[in-house]
Amino acid sequence: MLHPPIELPSDAALPRGLVVRRPRVADHPAVVAAIPDWWGMPDTSIHLLLPPLFFQHFSDTSFLAEDADGMAAFLIGFHSHAQPDAAYIHFVGVRPDLRHLGLARTLYETFFAEARAAGCHRVDAITGVPNRRSQAFHAALGFEASGDTDYDGVRAWRDYDGPGEHRVAFSRKL
Ligand SMILES: CC(C)(COP(=O)(O)OP(=O)(O)OC[C@H]1O[C@@H](n2cnc3c(N)ncnc32)[C@H](O)[C@@H]1OP(=O)(O)O)[C@@H](O)C(=O)NCCC(=O)NCCS
Repeated sequence: MLHPPIELPSDAALPRGLVVRRPRVADHPAVVAAIPDWWGMPDTSIHLLLPPLFFQHFSDTSFLAEDADGMAAFLIGFHSHAQPDAAYIHFVGVRPDLRHLGLARTLYETFFAEARAAGCHRVDAITGVPNRRSQAFHAALGFEASGDTDYDGVRAWRDYDGPGEHRVAFSRKL
């Protein structure tokens, strides 16, 4: 399995004691166990969107951060095979006590740099209509949002992920 070294942005101000590495298949249970709490959705099955295949096949383009208290953050993404000019960020999460410190921004910027170096010119992501926090985060990172329908003031693609599963699509040039 490929675990290429990670070069963080030179101006990255990481919380003290935090280390960023590539995720491994063995990390999968801890990541999915954290999702309901980190997403603030205790009864969610959102973790089913993140099966082990992402840890088996996309570890070389993903990140996991740890500190003395355990897992601190993760970003799961990949460079598209079918669209070589595109990269895709599937999941990002930051432990609640580490929010608003620029950690997700650092992981995104590291992903952008690696994607650029691999020849990608665009990065895509999606989020659910109720996830205003994610929408604000992606807007702050320079993503443009798109959708075909208005849901309580949020433009999202109707039935994007199946019936009733509307999603806001984000795209950003690299
Ligand atoms: C969304 C999330 C990853 C942001 O992580 P974070 O480390 O707190 O974000 P950062 O500190 O790097 O913030 C980067 C920018 O996003 C903005 N931002 C982050 N969270 C925000 C929020 N809740 N509301 C508004 N803006 C927000 C910040 O203002 C910041 O902008 P700035 O740098 O211009 O000041 C985190 O809140 C999280 O894990 N949420 C639960 C999981 C989730 O919804 N993931 C996204 C969908 S997969």
